[in-house]
Amino acid sequence: MTTRLLEIENLTVRLAAGQAARPIIDGVSLHVEHGEAVGLVGESGSGKSVTCRSVLGLFPEGAEAAGGLRVDGADILTMSPTRLRDLRRRDASMIFQDPRASINPLRRIGDFVTEGLRASGVSRKGALDRAEELLESVGIRAPRAALRRYPHEFSGGMLQRVMIAGALAGGPRLLLADEPTTALDVTTQAEVVSILTRLQAERDMGMLFVTHDLELAAAICDRVYVMYAGRIVEAQSAEGLFSRPRHPYTSGLLAATPRLESDRPPHGVPGRPVSLSEAPSGCAFAARCAHARPGCTEHEPGLREIDGAQVACLRAEELIHD
Ligand SMILES: Nc1ncnc2c1ncn2[C@@H]1O[C@H](COP(=O)(O)OP(=O)(O)O)[C@@H](O)[C@H]1O
Ligand code: SF4
Ligand SMILES: [Mg+2]
Repeated sequence: MTTRLLEIENLTVRLAAGQAARPIIDGVSLHVEHGEAVGLVGESGSGKSVTCRSVLGLFPEGAEAAGGLRVDGADILTMSPTRLRDLRRRDASMIFQDPRASINPLRRIGDFVTEGLRASGVSRKGALDRAEELLESVGIRAPRAALRRYPHEFSGGMLQRVMIAGALAGGPRLLLADEPTTALDVTTQAEVVSILTRLQAERDMGMLFVTHDLELAAAICDRVYVMYAGRIVEAQSAEGLFSRPRHPYTSGLLAATPRLESDRPPHGVPGRPVSLSEAPSGCAFAARCAHARPGCTEHEPGLREIDGAQVACLRAEELIHD
């Protein structure tokens, strides 16, 4: 059996040490196979970024993590800082939502893209040649000249392409994309998504694509995990999730997405998302769920397999209407 590219098993992240501290991530399990595109979807505050950053060993200050976290079989939680740095440079890299906040405005684009290569011992000339190819592969015109320019000379969309080029420099097998298109206008979003999906396929990378947009995740991913209040509440194939969502929260997210062919306004999920620390006992979604029953706040629903989907809803079987 080949080793999974990314395997997260029962990951719990607590903000302060000790069992008494309430977790912000609670028992999250997910995996990404080599070459597979996997979505992680949920509203703001559901724990997507904390989960995604954990993969690179980046935790909130003072946080304590427990569970299994492996990239290509290598255990992130027990890895030495040197090995972790190598892993971030070569094996797994991340693209963030806001390129302006992630790229140093005082340094040239070339320095940003070649940084990891130079640290890995590649010559200056070799790294610049490689950076030029990378900028070309993300559609930056006159890439050699672009290497000498500064971030403020680029639009947000172009700078996001630069960030993708930088993330690909070390030839990673795993790409973590945390809301990479959220800060961009719709047209630019589509361009960046198409660059990302093309490069992911060409380079046979595994990708964890984090977004609050379920429709986008379903369009570009093979499988999708839905997160609510620090837990996974549904996981299934993108196709299945889109056509037969099993968890009331997933159905609500789908209803919240405006459709081009529909002239009805999106109705979506009523109320606001809760974090785990404010969630009541039992099902964290209960206060917003139209199907809630008194029993829903008594027992915490664990993930169960139903027709090839994993669902954490006590009433999932009853709610299926095929
Ligand atoms: N550095 C941090 N310190 C304290 N709490 C944090 C930190 N980062 C995230 N959190 C909390 O963890 C929860 C999940 O946050 P996050 O993963 O950023 O959500 P998402 O990316 O889904 O919007 C939120 O309740 C947030 O307030
Ligand atoms: S367990 Fe109950 S409250 Fe939670 S999603 Fe299912 S029906 Fe709704
Ligand atoms: Mg986030």
